[in-house]
Amino acid sequence: MDAIIWENDSLRLLDQTKLPRSIEYIECNDYRTVAEAIKRLAVRGAPAIGAAAAYGLVVGARQIEAADRKTFLEKLEAIAGELGATRPTAVNLRWALDRMMMRLTTAPEQDVQELRRIMLDEAHAIYNEDVQSNRKMGEFGQELLPDGARVLTHCNAGALATAGYGTALGVIRAAHEKGKQISVYADETRPLLQGARLTAWEMVQEGIPVTLITDNMAGYLMAKKMVDCVIVGADRITANGDVANKIGTYGVAVLAKYHNIPFYVAAPLSTIDMGLSSGEEIPIEERDPREVTHHAGQAMAPDGVQVWNPAFDVTPNHLVTAIITEMGIVYPPYIENLAKICGYKK
Ligand code: MRU
Repeated sequence: MDAIIWENDSLRLLDQTKLPRSIEYIECNDYRTVAEAIKRLAVRGAPAIGAAAAYGLVVGARQIEAADRKTFLEKLEAIAGELGATRPTAVNLRWALDRMMMRLTTAPEQDVQELRRIMLDEAHAIYNEDVQSNRKMGEFGQELLPDGARVLTHCNAGALATAGYGTALGVIRAAHEKGKQISVYADETRPLLQGARLTAWEMVQEGIPVTLITDNMAGYLMAKKMVDCVIVGADRITANGDVANKIGTYGVAVLAKYHNIPFYVAAPLSTIDMGLSSGEEIPIEERDPREVTHHAGQAMAPDGVQVWNPAFDVTPNHLVTAIITEMGIVYPPYIENLAKICGYKK
């Protein structure tokens, strides 16, 4: 099931808010439709929102009326700003938009139509490279999973969260494809249930054994020695190896440390933000209180109650056993080893 489809010269996004009840695609003929889809998590997951925004910019470029390159690029910059402001935490969003703009500003072409064509090629490249990265991550990461491993994951870092195959679930898929007997525990992931609705769905579709638990069961599961390792994705990793990911990830990492269980993060280099030195600098998105007080339109809490609803948390680097990337597995000390893998000179 593809989260993002470019077909017949137009963009369609799978509405993940409807899963697993129904499979519906959103036709995107306006970049604002793409921005809205990202905001309300119809398309979600760090690499997927990067790729969706790149295609959204292509859609926006077609809406621009401009005869010359300068006017075209100015208007495009404004659209990129709107798309980039939809969600603050996943750095892949800004990374993809910057890459699109950089490709154009360094292109010598003057003709606007020609620039639009270059943009589509670049969006396809971002999409295709993401699938390739995930496959490579899978290949490297599966080495960490012994035959028979029982793997706990949080949120959804699968095909739905990427251009395809997935990061954390890509590693699980790769181990499964190698013939290893892998089973998965999926945290349901309150408040929006990406684990229950999306991860469990992906695993069931694929025939990979999966057991759904509520978030508050993870500690007892570990205490009962029913988990061999944890693998999650990431929305942003800072230069020192701190990891922002779906709210609840930090709690799982603390529990894993306490129980001596390896805690792995799988993420492409596009998720690593070498511009930030630690997780404290990562902007954390806060979302609508109704996501916490309501479920399926029904109130579950009294009117007027105060709510705190951060969508992500930060796991400090000392709780992370290794980071799996498309270039290989990175171990501590992250400050040195992430710099090396990202090609930064000390
Ligand atoms: O709010 P979401 O559903 O976009 O959050 C997604 C996550 O936290 C994922 O774990 C992360 O983006 C990695 S996706 C490969």
